[in-house]
Amino acid sequence: MKVTSAEFLKSATEPSQYPGESIPEIAFVGRSNVGKSSLINTLLNRKRLARISTVPGKTRLINFFKINDRLSFVDLPGYGYAKVPLSVKKTWGPMVERYLKERENLCLVILILDIRREPSADDLALVDWLRHYDVKFIYVLTKMDKISKNQLSRRRRTIMGHLNPIHDESAIMFSSKTGYGKDDVWGKIMEATEK
Ligand code: GTP
Ligand code: MG
Repeated sequence: MKVTSAEFLKSATEPSQYPGESIPEIAFVGRSNVGKSSLINTLLNRKRLARISTVPGKTRLINFFKINDRLSFVDLPGYGYAKVPLSVKKTWGPMVERYLKERENLCLVILILDIRREPSADDLALVDWLRHYDVKFIYVLTKMDKISKNQLSRRRRTIMGHLNPIHDESAIMFSSKTGYGKDDVWGKIMEATEK
């Protein structure tokens, strides 16, 4: 999709603070530092719209962005980073679960995994949770620029093996460094929002 406008709307922790409009929404979720904010910026051709940090656990609120006045992206805080204060960890689960469960205009969750790593217990729990609540999601395996080409499909098979894929849970290989996979991710977003 041609991105003509992309703007930060607001941050929220609870439903009363979510934007009132009900345009189709796409949420990005995954462990801390996996590259959620980078993926958003790459999709939108922006360098710093969603804040990227070398410090994991940077995104601690639910951040809403509006694209072309017809689509909304949501950058969710990452999970599983040990150094995030306990008080933050305790609020993460309820805050994100509530969003995923209650947001009516949510049409696709993009679950981001590092292609170099095995899925964590938190990743697996989230997958179970999304399946249980019947939330539509796809996998994006990111940081693919960090491994050699001949390892790519083997890594994808290994990761997907852990996730025990069913039905049409697809996995797109992606790199925010090279932009590889960007059109595939956009394709899935358009497919989900046009329904
Ligand atoms: P939190 O908000 O802390 O949960 O992190 P996040 O998931 O939003 O990750 P973020 O986009 O901030 O990226 C974390 C680090 O990974 C940064 O140093 C990025 O530059 C780097 N990074 C993200 N995606 C890629 C990628 O595809 N390739 C490479 N080489 N580095 C990446
Ligand atoms: Mg982030």
